[in-house]
Formats: sequence, structure tokens, C-alpha cells
Amino acid sequence: MIISFDQLQMVPLEENIDLSPFSSSNEDLNDFLKNDAIESQEDLISRTYICIWKDRPVGFFTLVTDTIEVKLIEQKDGIDDYAYQKYPAIKVARMAVDEEFAGSGVGRYSLLAAIGKVHHISQEVGCRYITVDSKKESIGFYLKNGFRLIKRYENRKFPPMYLNMHPILQRVGRK
Ligand SMILES: CC(C)(COP(=O)(O)OP(=O)(O)OC[C@H]1O[C@@H](n2cnc3c(N)ncnc32)[C@H](O)[C@@H]1OP(=O)(O)O)[C@@H](O)C(=O)NCCC(=O)NCCS
Repeated sequence: MIISFDQLQMVPLEENIDLSPFSSSNEDLNDFLKNDAIESQEDLISRTYICIWKDRPVGFFTLVTDTIEVKLIEQKDGIDDYAYQKYPAIKVARMAVDEEFAGSGVGRYSLLAAIGKVHHISQEVGCRYITVDSKKESIGFYLKNGFRLIKRYENRKFPPMYLNMHPILQRVGRK
């Protein structure tokens, strides 16, 4: 089943959202969402957003601030004289889709929503990259959505990946 994007909605995590039906294939991610995400938010460590379909939570992602080492980026897109060792970034610290809805487009919708949030943030605070430490089995999902692997660390347990916001925003003419 493919769910059209206009049936999905992304809302900030709040206490009153019933998360009990949510079950992704990853128990650690389920546990984080149900037991730790609110506290992490209150501690200003992370922010979580829930993807809703017909009043039901079907996906989520969690954002934190990050930096990425300049020397790890292959495609710098025109920055030749950057004086620092790190670029500013936002990390997708966690992301998952309810198993029942896997392959229905919820993951792509959620990732596009995360990119939208980072675009919004980049209008207020410098933020050029989106990073993620991917699960090995999800690398293909991020590659399909424009992320690149950091070659030097591709054999890590959670290989780090990045997406450069600059060409994306140039393409849509909203830089
Ligand atoms: C990875 C995950 C978020 C993908 O969500 P999803 O809703 O199933 O993905 P979508 O249906 O939106 O798929 C979008 C595209 O990515 C592809 N895709 C999805 N998962 C993929 C994977 N694991 N490997 C390769 N491609 C994948 C789909 O085939 C689709 O491609 P298409 O448009 O050419 O058909 C989901 O499988 C999940 O929650 N996994 C468990 C937790 C996890 O691994 N989280 C990410 C780790 S940080």
C-alpha cells in the first residue's frame, strides 16, 4: 500500500499523543520513542516529530544539532576558503516507520519533513548539512534520498552519512 503524502501529517511530539500502537522493526527505537523521547525533549537534548495517518502514529524522527568534519566531505560545492574544521549540521538522530506501514512512503515523507525542518532552521541559524548514523540495512534508503556515505567510515557499525542542503535549496530557488 502506498499512502499519498496528503494523508500524512507531521506533528511535534507531545505527552497527549498515544504512541502505544507504534511498532517498528527496531525495539531500541520503539523504546526510545515510548519511554525517553519526551524527557530528552524536556532536557533540550533532542526534538521528535511524529508522522500521523488517520490519527495513528506511523513514523517518527528525532533531530539534534551536530557538526561534520570538513575533511570528510567529498563535495564541498564551491566553498574553497572555509576557515574552520567543521561545518554546522543537524543530525537525524533517530527515524523509524511502523512495520505495518513499511514500504508505503512514510519513511520518505518523514525524511522530506526533516529536510524541510532543516531548511527552516537554516533560515535562522547556519546549517549546511544533514547527518545520520545509518543502520547498515537502511543505507540504501538514505542513498535513494540523496545522502552520501562517508567513505572512510563505511565499515563502522552505524556508517555516517550526510546530505548537503546547499544544492537542494539552490535547485528549489529558496536559498
Ligand atoms: C528505513 C525506514 C525508515 C524506511 O521507511 P519506509 O517507509 O519503509 O520507506 P519508504 O516506503 O518511504 O521508501 C522510500 C524509498 O526507499 C526505499 N527503501 C526503503 N527502505 C529501504 C532500505 N532499507 N534499503 C534500500 N531502500 C529502501 C524504498 O524502496 C523506496 O524506494 P522507491 O521510491 O524507489 O520505491 C524503515 O524501514 C524503518 O523504520 N526501518 C527500521 C528502523 C531504521 O532502520 N531506521 C533508520 C536507521 S537510522
